[in-house]
Amino acid sequence: METRSYGFAGIAIATCGLLSCTQPSAPAEAPIAAEAQALTPNDALIAWSAVQAFEQGRRTFRYDTFGDEEFWGGALRLHQAIAGAGGGGVGPGVSPKAALGLGLKVDVEALPGDLRRALQRGAVDLDAPATTVALLRLNAVVGVTGFFGDGDDAPLRSIGIQCALCHSTVDRSFTAPGVAAGLIGRRLDGWANRDLDVGGIIAASPSVKPFADLLGVSEATVRTVLRSWGPGKFDAELALDGKAFRPDGKSAATLIPPAFGLAGVNLHTWTGWGSVPYWNAFVAVLEMHGKGRFHDSRLADAAKFPVAARAGFSDVQIPPAQDRVTPKLAGLHAYQLALPAPPPPPGSFDRAAAGRGDALFSGKARCVSCHREPQGTEPGWNAHTAAEIGIDDFQSSRSPDGRYRTAPLGGLWSHQKGGFYHDGRFATLAAVVDHYDGVLSLGLGAGEKSDLVEYLKSL
Ligand code: HEC
Ligand code: HEC
Repeated sequence: METRSYGFAGIAIATCGLLSCTQPSAPAEAPIAAEAQALTPNDALIAWSAVQAFEQGRRTFRYDTFGDEEFWGGALRLHQAIAGAGGGGVGPGVSPKAALGLGLKVDVEALPGDLRRALQRGAVDLDAPATTVALLRLNAVVGVTGFFGDGDDAPLRSIGIQCALCHSTVDRSFTAPGVAAGLIGRRLDGWANRDLDVGGIIAASPSVKPFADLLGVSEATVRTVLRSWGPGKFDAELALDGKAFRPDGKSAATLIPPAFGLAGVNLHTWTGWGSVPYWNAFVAVLEMHGKGRFHDSRLADAAKFPVAARAGFSDVQIPPAQDRVTPKLAGLHAYQLALPAPPPPPGSFDRAAAGRGDALFSGKARCVSCHREPQGTEPGWNAHTAAEIGIDDFQSSRSPDGRYRTAPLGGLWSHQKGGFYHDGRFATLAAVVDHYDGVLSLGLGAGEKSDLVEYLKSL
């Protein structure tokens, strides 16, 4: 069986080579060529199809707007705010410094060598909106696509967004004067962008009328709500139930979760709306405003989802020839399932303490009763009531099943910014452990708690 699976890996790697994918490496002793020849035509078809789906999914995740530029550029005119009056838009424009301050990231691989060197010499004007437009022209802003007219100097005429906007960030490989590490770098797909001020970006649009019309409130109210979200957060349910604030007056927005480490996990999103392809269609059509078909009769429930029911979100129709979402779902699914949770950096946790924490996780602390390893969530219907985890039910009651989904824990170290649980209510992992110690009456000592935290940092 083992050598057989090397054979599959061999085919995948050979195919990847053609498509210039660089990461995977086979065990040195694997007889790739011989094994590849031993594959039956159907085995080869399967391997080819997996690689094709992965490649297509990566392109979609990074670059596909699903036609949503008609909304972000066409209706909100966000591109005009970016270009500014000096670049054919309106207002002061958005400089690279301001864009990076809003949490947008720049893909260093998309920058030509002379521009990288100029950045490192401090010779690029990071206060000029024209530089932001130039970065968009290079397709270098992660998760954002600028649309230009014909010609090298044609003005920015529209803008669209991608999955990578919220679910990718960049590594710390590039620094320059005035550019801290982690702003310009190589893409890290699947990582939650906890710096991204989604609400602040949308609120900068010249028009937020489509949201005002949808929610039946003024544009000023929409802007107030958007600005209440803060970095790393978004409210996917606002467009369904119109609830902008929790009963305690705080924003109803949730943290952007990572989109890695999801293989083998049944329900997705904080409150378990459905599978990966369910949520991908939901977000592409209802949130990004891409052109696609979406169906979910649960959204016709006018008592629970008044905004969605009024807007007809339970059955969004589009002629098949214009559907730019449905044909992408298989590839997107394959790509997300392929994204591993990133291993913790060397030295970022205490190994001996983590070993003791591991034993507690599966023993005295009873974490494993819900966070079953290796997925970090239960096989089956991985959802719990608010009472079971000792918190309020505001967010769970906004979802069809009224539950919180057991969050997978891989790569926790990479999304500590913004805190933990759906709304970041626990600022640190220590606070999470304290919470469980209280509600589950675990009786953990101080040393045990810190061992558990070291274990969580090691996942
Ligand atoms: C504007 C930011 C934003 C964009 C763009 C976005 N997402 Fe998300 N994504 C979120 C937020 C916030 C959640 C959590 C929603 C919730 O639980 O209510 C989420 C949840 C998810 C989840 C569930 C993760 C888990 O823990 O199970 C997946 C998978 C996902 N998104 C994939 C995508 C894909 C694929 C796209 C592009 C089609 C996309 N997202 C576009 C913000 C975004
Ligand atoms: C009854 C089931 C259950 C038990 C037991 C449980 N958890 Fe959880 N855990 C959950 C659920 C559900 C969530 C999601 C909460 C939310 O979305 O707000 C969660 C979230 C978390 C998170 C936050 C993940 C994130 O991305 O923000 C951490 C960390 C965590 N649990 C660790 C633990 C530890 C450590 C233990 C043992 C002391 C434990 N859990 C015990 C169900 C459980």
